[in-house]
Amino acid sequence: MIEFLKQMPKAELHLHIEGSLEPELMFRLAKRNHIPLPFDSEEQIREAYRFSDLQSFLNIYYQSACVLQTEEDFYDMTRAYIEHCRLQNIIHTEIFFDPQTHMDRGIDFGTVVRGIHQALDEGRHKYNISSHLILCFLRHLGPGLAMKTLDQALTYKDKIIGVGLDSSELGFPPDQFKEVFKKAMDNGFLTVAHAGEEGPPEYIRQALDVLKVKRIDHGVRCIEDPKLMHRLVEEEIPLTVCPLSNVKLKVFHQMRDHNILSLLEKGLKVTVNSDDPAYFGGYLNENLMALHEELGMNRDQAVRLAKNSFNACFLEPEEKRTAVLSLETYVKKSE
Ligand code: HPA
Ligand code: ZN
Repeated sequence: MIEFLKQMPKAELHLHIEGSLEPELMFRLAKRNHIPLPFDSEEQIREAYRFSDLQSFLNIYYQSACVLQTEEDFYDMTRAYIEHCRLQNIIHTEIFFDPQTHMDRGIDFGTVVRGIHQALDEGRHKYNISSHLILCFLRHLGPGLAMKTLDQALTYKDKIIGVGLDSSELGFPPDQFKEVFKKAMDNGFLTVAHAGEEGPPEYIRQALDVLKVKRIDHGVRCIEDPKLMHRLVEEEIPLTVCPLSNVKLKVFHQMRDHNILSLLEKGLKVTVNSDDPAYFGGYLNENLMALHEELGMNRDQAVRLAKNSFNACFLEPEEKRTAVLSLETYVKKSE
């Protein structure tokens, strides 16, 4: 089963590229750019990466991003993630980036996009890994700054397929970003939003009704609201669930409490993703293995999750069909 999961073709739809920055590369970039870090050993990092909730993680995540200064830094980080995709049979990935984290430090928007994009382009040509880039607005900085960020993104529309909403959730409901998302859609961007990770089901409803999103990132708190659950099933709204992240950030106490398989069995279009793999103890395959080992996920469930990942992605219909076909061929061959 472990080998089956590892080799299975899959897509990742919820990955913050800044959250793929492994300690080793972080130290290397800190040295290269002469940036002081608050930790200087693997041991101190392990200690720092014990989180109590989303905010305790975000504080360290934003601080660590300071080592990213040049186009080459963003390229190196993204190339390392693409290498993980290759090793884990992720054949398509849709990655988030947080430009505001970098612009706040005086880094040019184009520096960030060009560095990431170059590595994604290489992934496509060298390894046949397709990808899309999604800009996330930091909800704690508010809609005004999000709008300014969107204006910058318009210049790079050919490299960015959509916009999303991340960072601190509680106290920052999606409806504050109505105008930003409206303008994004008017300019042809697809939309997603983090909702229902720490926030209530009402935030998921707002993301759907006010922001008109195509997918919900996380969304696991939908289970508290039967009417919303019914709607998510009826409208086939994909949820990009991140099991290891949820346990690390104490959304669930332990993996055995996670609701992902209940959601799947109730007919929701759930997918498995790694969120911030360098911080949460694993990439996509480690998430799948944890679901198998601790929740008893079987082969049929794993295949349905992978199929959902292709059906929920932003590829063209023809490309989606090809991806699903490669999964079906793989399953047949493994029988
Ligand atoms: N939630 C909100 N913001 C984030 C996350 C997350 O899980 N990861 C990186 N930024
Ligand atoms: Zn996330």
